[in-house]
Amino acid sequence: MLAYKNGSIYWGNVDLSLPAQKWGTPFYVYNRSTLEESFTLLQSRLRPEVNTICYALKANSNPHLVGCLAGLGAGADIVSMGELIAARKAKIPAGKIVFSGAGKSDEELRFALKEGVGAINVESKQELDAIERISADLKTKAPVMLRVNPDIDPQSHPLISTGKNYHKFGISLDSIPEFATRCKKSGRIEFLGLHVHIGSQISRFESIDNTFKVISNLVKSIEKQGIPIRNINIGGGLPVDYESAGKSLLSGGCTGMDTGLEKATGYWKTCIKKHFDCTKISIVIEPGRSIIAHSGILLTRVIYRKRNNKKEFLIVDAGMNDFIRPALYGETHSIVPLKEPGNLKTTIDIAGPLCETGDVFARDISFPESDKGDVLAILSTGAYGFVLSSNYNLRLRPPELLIDNGEVACIRERESYDDII
Ligand code: LLP
Repeated sequence: MLAYKNGSIYWGNVDLSLPAQKWGTPFYVYNRSTLEESFTLLQSRLRPEVNTICYALKANSNPHLVGCLAGLGAGADIVSMGELIAARKAKIPAGKIVFSGAGKSDEELRFALKEGVGAINVESKQELDAIERISADLKTKAPVMLRVNPDIDPQSHPLISTGKNYHKFGISLDSIPEFATRCKKSGRIEFLGLHVHIGSQISRFESIDNTFKVISNLVKSIEKQGIPIRNINIGGGLPVDYESAGKSLLSGGCTGMDTGLEKATGYWKTCIKKHFDCTKISIVIEPGRSIIAHSGILLTRVIYRKRNNKKEFLIVDAGMNDFIRPALYGETHSIVPLKEPGNLKTTIDIAGPLCETGDVFARDISFPESDKGDVLAILSTGAYGFVLSSNYNLRLRPPELLIDNGEVACIRERESYDDII
């Protein structure tokens, strides 16, 4: 639980001002028990219909964190050779790894086949050609699932939508039966089933309902061709509430996991049961964000408080190179002061130090009085946080810390100028 205690924020019995003193700011800090609780909640809510949860490493690929999930039985959804190496390093069994992505290189496909991944989610004829060629060379059979592009809008942000017919992802619906026949006939392919992922932050029941309906009709028509479908990967995309954690903290409450997760798993499960016969079909799901978002916080220190004309700014030491989601998707992440706030509030922008107008974490928010030296916590930054960080403006990427059993350990050091110059 995250809550104010003795004037500071405590997380897993750790006063977050202590790591801020020891490691300096900015830094990401994760909490092992929050991570494990959210995975276990997802697992228990989706059982028995969902057979395997393949955690999407793109959300956060730190092997220490992936290792925690591996210990709970997670598989992995990977999208590159690097993520495959990280998943294996974290001891995820190769057979529980699924490989997605519209542009897998020959080198990556060869590596994945040698490693023995559970499934390659194929997205084009060209990729299928490459797989047949490489598996012939390796004298093996490639486990293949076909990624369907169902032409459905997840109704979230356009930059995180993947399932419309004008997107680069997947194979168009009407071509799938022909692809399935080719896979079935190929001596180099073991055809496993279908994969679909229409995007992230899917909070509309209809989008999921329609997607699963399309897939279940497709299964029926492929089976009519005499090709049985035994596996379906229904993708990720369970939504996360980025705003309520801060509200409950500031109103004197505490926050743990996302209550929205219970609701989302509820409608996902209803749709699975409605459209698939789970006694015959094994279901895989590959969420990232919903597992790890609330397990991470970005801590940053105010460098200056300044006023320009009528506007007031807190300029902090983390920037969009450390955490890009607000700049890239206009997402609002809760920000709270580390020191328990009083009642006085100011309308203020919270911005980073980069030479970019978009380097802003919050605009015109009513925020507790803060000034130079104060530490702020940007909440729910465990997913698509550190993994999207960069060295833009030649800045050092921040360290990652882990709270485990009341202790804090560094699981990735802050970069040094020697590392990057
Ligand atoms: N499976 C596939 C094939 C994916 O492309 C993704 C995410 C996932 C699973 C996991 O989706 P999730 O459960 O995390 O929503 N950087 C963006 C998110 C990009 C998501 C890319 N694909 C953000 O910060 O919102």
